[in-house]
Formats: sequence, structure tokens, C-alpha cells
Amino acid sequence: MLGRVNHIAIAVPILNEAAAIYRDTLGARISQPQSLPEHGVTVVFVELENTKIELLEPLDDTSPIAAFLERNPSGGIHHICYETRDITAAAEKLKATGARILGDGSPKIGAHGNPVIFLHPKDFNGTLIELEEV
Ligand code: CO
Repeated sequence: MLGRVNHIAIAVPILNEAAAIYRDTLGARISQPQSLPEHGVTVVFVELENTKIELLEPLDDTSPIAAFLERNPSGGIHHICYETRDITAAAEKLKATGARILGDGSPKIGAHGNPVIFLHPKDFNGTLIELEEV
């Protein structure tokens, strides 16, 4: 079911400060900020050789990551995204094992234009998992 790590997402309170840390302190290549209103976030991609890091800042208080930042005011790892070949098959298999898929359980179009699902962290060792069909 799992392929490569597509990205690791880190929720941050102040996006331009977080981006500057990756660019200036860590010497990484970063993208311009992109607003994704349908996901409630602005994102900067840190482009690495083998994967990417997504720095996520909430667009407003209704953002899905706003509550996470309330619990983790300095930011923190929010989710890990693994690639999968057939998201529908993966979702069916996971549901059959009793794993909980967030939302209505069906794949949604994610930040990169591909279908994604999110799996409940309580079923996966406290880690929010995103599966993305690639
Ligand atoms: Co993601």
C-alpha cells in the first residue's frame, strides 16, 4: 500500500519566519508561499533531494491546523504523506481493518491535485497519515 514519502508537513505559527529558518539557517531551497483556501492554509515547500517539507500556516481560525497550533504554539510535525498507487483500493482495505478515515471516508483532491485521504492518528501511533495517489 505504501510507496515513497511524498512530504512531511510541519504546522508553523509564522510562515515567513519558518521559511527563513529553512532558507537561511538550514540552507534549503524553498518555494514562494502559496495560498490554498480550500485547505485553509498557506504553504511554503522546502525542496529536498528525496522529498519535500511543507510548512503550513493557517489562513484563519477555522483552518484545520488552527487547533493543532493552539496545542503546539511553536509549531510541530502535523502529518506524513505516503504515496499509494490506488487510493480507492487502499481506502477500502483500511476501512475493512476498522481504521478510521477522516471526513466522509472518500478521497478528496489534495494540495497537489491528486486524490488523498487522511487516517485517524489514534489508529496509527499518534501520527496523522495522508495517503496520496501518485
Ligand atoms: Co499533506
